[in-house]
Amino acid sequence: MAKIHRMLGWLVAFGLGAGAWPGLAVAQQPGAARAPTAAGAGPVPTVVVTGANRGLGLAWARKYAERGWSVIATVREPDRAGELRELARAGAPIRIETLDATDPRSLEAFATRLAGRPVDVLINNAGTIGEEPEQKLGQLDASRFDHYMRVNALSALLVTERLLPNLRAGRQKKVAGISARVASFAAYPRIHSGLYYYKASKAALNMVLRNLAMDLQGDGIAVAVLSPGVVNTYGTPDDHDAMSPEMRASMTDIDTSVAGMMKVMDGLTLEGSGRWYRYTGDVISW
Ligand SMILES: NC(=O)c1ccc[n+]([C@@H]2O[C@H](COP(=O)([O-])OP(=O)(O)OC[C@H]3O[C@@H](n4cnc5c(N)ncnc54)[C@H](OP(=O)(O)O)[C@@H]3O)[C@@H](O)[C@H]2O)c1
Repeated sequence: MAKIHRMLGWLVAFGLGAGAWPGLAVAQQPGAARAPTAAGAGPVPTVVVTGANRGLGLAWARKYAERGWSVIATVREPDRAGELRELARAGAPIRIETLDATDPRSLEAFATRLAGRPVDVLINNAGTIGEEPEQKLGQLDASRFDHYMRVNALSALLVTERLLPNLRAGRQKKVAGISARVASFAAYPRIHSGLYYYKASKAALNMVLRNLAMDLQGDGIAVAVLSPGVVNTYGTPDDHDAMSPEMRASMTDIDTSVAGMMKVMDGLTLEGSGRWYRYTGDVISW
């Protein structure tokens, strides 16, 4: 019910309803995204957002769609992507694709469906913070560590690798991964303890993205590590008592966070590639 309320709130806030996306529906068709915009300002850019059924991923998809971009929104289970489907049904230029990036066959099938389609921007958003109790000393388990590493670090690497032909064919040539400030060595010891898998996997993601930045300079592809701040994406009341002072200070709402990260991506250049940016645009120390 809370989700439905949130969705209705968004639809009202953005004046969306049936037919509220004039001139954009055409971009839902595969291959239509390179058609000139109505204003004749060049081709409609295409963005791929992973983990787009909820939370920050859903906000990325919605905000790029509001701009008129062609959005390829990946989800693990389309049946659980109700809000995204509602937006697409209302005419938003969103194409929903199934992808579990931790499953090689799923990734292969997704990349095959996208073959030949230029992609301007790739947002590797899918990730998990998981459960705190299983990430405490005394509870640790190797297979769980593998799981977090796959979801949070390896999937961004493999998705980016598999979509390189699409990115090379795109005009903007930009890639992002969503990290977390708790993975910063520089932030130590001002962060809370625990969360071993999450922190280690996001630190690994940082290195993956830095490495990609080096490797992809020659292709003209810029790579950014992004931090969204602390965003309550669970629809629950904020539990300020459970947060460190640093977390409380970086708490932000989802629209501010995603709008800020989009601005960072808009301004991303090859010179700024391989850096870690907060949603405010500030550079974060590793
Ligand atoms: N919210 C924050 O404060 C915060 C702070 C720092 C970094 N981040 C990062 O920002 C990203 C989005 O965060 P969020 O708060 O929006 O998270 P969320 O609400 O938990 O959503 C996570 C998304 O990732 C997908 N996902 C999870 N495991 C996956 C897997 N194995 N394969 C493919 N997709 C998977 C989820 O799909 P399902 O619905 O199918 O599970 C969902 O779409 C994550 O990478 C997160 O670590 C968030």
